[in-house]
Amino acid sequence: MSPLNQLLSPITIKSMSLTNWVVMPPMGTNLGRDDGTVSPENLAYLKRRAQGQPGLIITEITAAHPEGIASPNQLGAYDDRFIPGLSRLVAVAHEAGSKIAMQIHHAGRESTFLLEQGKAVAPSPVPSIVFRRTPREMTLEDIKEVILAFGSAAVRAREAGFDAVELHGAHGYLLTQFLSAISNRRTDEYGGATLKERSRFVIEVITEVRRQVGPGFPISVRISGEEYIRGGYTIEDMQTILPDIVRAGADIIHASIGTHGSPGAITQATPEYEPGFNVGLAKKIKEVVSVPVIAVGRFSDPALADEVIGRGDAELVAFGRQFLADPDFLIKAKAGRTAEIRKCIACNQGCIEREILGEGNIRCSINPETGQETIYPKGPAAKPKKVLVVGSGPGGLTAAFEAARLGHRVTLFEQEEELGGQLRYARIPPYKKIYGEWIDWQIDQVRKAGVTIQSGTPVNERLLRDQNPDHVILASGGEKIIPPIAGIEKPSVCDAWQILSGTVAPKDHILVVGGGLIGMETADFLSEQGKEVTLVEMLERSPVRKITSHGYMLHQRLQEKKCRLLFGTVLKSIGDGSVEIETKGETSTLSPVDQVVMAVGLKPRDELKGILESLKIPFSVIGDARQPRRIFEAVEEGAQAVWKL
Ligand SMILES: Cc1cc2nc3c(=O)[nH]c(=O)nc-3n(C[C@H](O)[C@H](O)[C@H](O)COP(=O)(O)O)c2cc1C
Repeated sequence: MSPLNQLLSPITIKSMSLTNWVVMPPMGTNLGRDDGTVSPENLAYLKRRAQGQPGLIITEITAAHPEGIASPNQLGAYDDRFIPGLSRLVAVAHEAGSKIAMQIHHAGRESTFLLEQGKAVAPSPVPSIVFRRTPREMTLEDIKEVILAFGSAAVRAREAGFDAVELHGAHGYLLTQFLSAISNRRTDEYGGATLKERSRFVIEVITEVRRQVGPGFPISVRISGEEYIRGGYTIEDMQTILPDIVRAGADIIHASIGTHGSPGAITQATPEYEPGFNVGLAKKIKEVVSVPVIAVGRFSDPALADEVIGRGDAELVAFGRQFLADPDFLIKAKAGRTAEIRKCIACNQGCIEREILGEGNIRCSINPETGQETIYPKGPAAKPKKVLVVGSGPGGLTAAFEAARLGHRVTLFEQEEELGGQLRYARIPPYKKIYGEWIDWQIDQVRKAGVTIQSGTPVNERLLRDQNPDHVILASGGEKIIPPIAGIEKPSVCDAWQILSGTVAPKDHILVVGGGLIGMETADFLSEQGKEVTLVEMLERSPVRKITSHGYMLHQRLQEKKCRLLFGTVLKSIGDGSVEIETKGETSTLSPVDQVVMAVGLKPRDELKGILESLKIPFSVIGDARQPRRIFEAVEEGAQAVWKL
């Protein structure tokens, strides 16, 4: 069988015929208008994804009830006024040849927006694990109202032209809150000791939706196969209610995983989880029901999805973040151009975490077009310019690629022989290989785009005069900070970059100085090799936040490997075989310490600024050269600097 035969064959589910078995799963965008209606940004974002030709697109969470919204700009379906905008979403998908389902949602207690106003409702007054506030317990009248609201929202979806609806029964929102013993403590007919007893609300919601939309309209039910939290339900529990879910009206089961507060945010799994890691749950679901099942979880390779379907583990495969990283991945795969696919690195910086942390609407840290479709210039630029990019980290490479894509004449200068900036090192710690694959891909794209690359070439005043560019993108990155500590000159002292690159061999008892990402990842790298690692950080709390999925994983691993993390602690002096540290004004000696690895961070390397000003060459400073930060900011600033040219 030729590659992708399974994935690319048609499938019909009730009234819905799909051209292939690829699903774009629901992804909240925060792009809606403040009144919950569809915005031009929603349409542009969806159109770009639909151009990638998935068989089925499922919209982001769409509110069934005003008391269940996660945020004011969440799309709504609880009133007829939403129908015109929703039908424009449908038109965008249909024009591109995809079918589209609307995901119907009620946040229950998982809405910080409603919790803050004291308006959030839930099966029981149990505080949200994430937001820590307590919702109001739903009365039987509330329950009836919400059940009806799901049905009415589904009818509006049908009126707007959607091909199906999906009921959001996953990830800890209202439906899961009823299923979960952690959040459902009710003693009436909607509670109970078993999942089967607690499933009554979910079953009634499905039944009502089926009643209102009629027998032929497809209904998908998204569930978390496992709650994946201490005390949560398991897939074996879920197996006991799945036949009821199907009997009530589900035509498709969408097999997600995890809940709010699941460790490491497994729903949007990090690189620690293998691509397709969650297929096992889809298989377990198929043991007990015969309707089509959608598998989801770190898929970025259509060939893997094809295998999964070929083995019969699932009928459909959802690619979530991959649609953010590269909406054209399926078209590229179909054409055998797999090397051109920009693979999702599962970093969560631009997408889910940006949204959860209230940093803004959906983006992708490696694809600057995502979430910015309405301002993304298609090119070519009206006035092609001679652009000089200084530095080849994520920001410089993005700027160089974008400038070449828009028709500018671009030269990229890198003072080192090897391209990649900080990524040359950041790719080395455990589970970071995927970042390295991305930077290699990006370098390749820059070459193919026709950028002249001059590595091993520092940029100075003479070079700038000779080149006489129209614009310079200063992406020269950061410079290591070397703090004035007694003993810093000793041979036992090195820095994180020397350790990661292998230019200095690690010893056995190591002190890492600095608890930012570089220090933490270096500690991870060293403890992975069995070294005894202590890390000191002057801040009282870790700058690597456990609320981020990568941060959670790092803290978890360091704890498992018994790496000692000392916060609020300053390194005072470095001796021979020991160091002096100070915690809360108390000095103590740490020993044995046979190596001190400095990772106190970077400061902007931007000395060319003054020269550019004196030469009156227009320039933009981006990424770490502006302020040391993450890939997301470097890529974003690199692209935006070029778009403004
Ligand atoms: C930015 C973002 C928003 C999401 N919003 C939703 C949502 O609205 N409804 C939902 O059921 N799942 C949501 N998810 C989960 C995805 O549908 C999907 O299950 C998850 O990203 C795992 O798939 P992936 O590994 O292919 O990205 C969201 C995920 C991301 C990254």
